[in-house]
Amino acid sequence: MKIGIVGAGMVGSSAGFALAIAGYANEIVFVDKNEALAVAQAEDISHAVPFMSATRVRAGGYADLAGAGIVVLSAGVGQRPGEGRLELLERNAVVIRSIVSEILAVVPDPILLVAANPVDVITHIAAKISGLPRNRVIGSGTILDTARFRSLLARHIEISPQSIPAFVIGEHGDSEVLAWSGAVAGSADLISFAAQLGKPITEDVRKAIDHDVRNAAYKIIEGKGATYYGIGAGIARIVRAITRDEGSVLSVSIHTDHVAGVDNVTLSLPRVVGARGVTADLLPDLEPSEQQALTRSAQMLKELSDSLHI
Ligand code: 2OP
Repeated sequence: MKIGIVGAGMVGSSAGFALAIAGYANEIVFVDKNEALAVAQAEDISHAVPFMSATRVRAGGYADLAGAGIVVLSAGVGQRPGEGRLELLERNAVVIRSIVSEILAVVPDPILLVAANPVDVITHIAAKISGLPRNRVIGSGTILDTARFRSLLARHIEISPQSIPAFVIGEHGDSEVLAWSGAVAGSADLISFAAQLGKPITEDVRKAIDHDVRNAAYKIIEGKGATYYGIGAGIARIVRAITRDEGSVLSVSIHTDHVAGVDNVTLSLPRVVGARGVTADLLPDLEPSEQQALTRSAQMLKELSDSLHI
């Protein structure tokens, strides 16, 4: 499948690199308003390809996206140190609106994969203005928070993160919800599995992991200015699920008719992802405090999206 990446900055280029080394696409086309940047990223990544896969990587204009099955939207600004994701909304909403129209003029029926922040609200906007079915406008959402949750749990329990199907749901941002109660590890629920391995999840452990997942991006941005490898790999994971029609359960953000007592909101839940995009939404078992936190997260996102009058 041909994949377009609009926005060749750190996030877009990391996604392109992850896709190219994994060989999840036949062709990757970078588009950026800074054409020299798009060309340079494509060239640099194409020099990694002979070591890894047979992906064709190039830069082009919107016309070169014709025939793409998936277009990644990674344009827009990122957070500065200390800045929250929601503060990016006005700047990135303007950028995404014009990009979506340009894409649809050449690719009428793409799967749009949105990775600009605040990703839930930007995905909401992209879905509304594109008029595409809800299952084809997918925000990267909490796929990265879920990966952070699993990697911290893995470090604590000392098993691989792949053996811990635990999810972060709700906003990709400060109000996100770590779904502890439905979490599984190996063959048992997470809490009893961890206790069996002699690594109990005490209240302190739980608080520390919650804090570190929620604040991971802030900490990385303090240290190196931006986050990009994790989200790049997350985008590649979603592309893999689509191109291979896997039916994988991934926490991604799409428009949701009804969740946790809130209607018409775009947020992350574990969802089944395959060739047609998202084909089912799943709600993990939640204890009352998690359910309430999900409602708060959904209400906040809904108020923000409604205030835009799209
Ligand atoms: C992240 O969580 C900044 O949203 C980006 O890494």
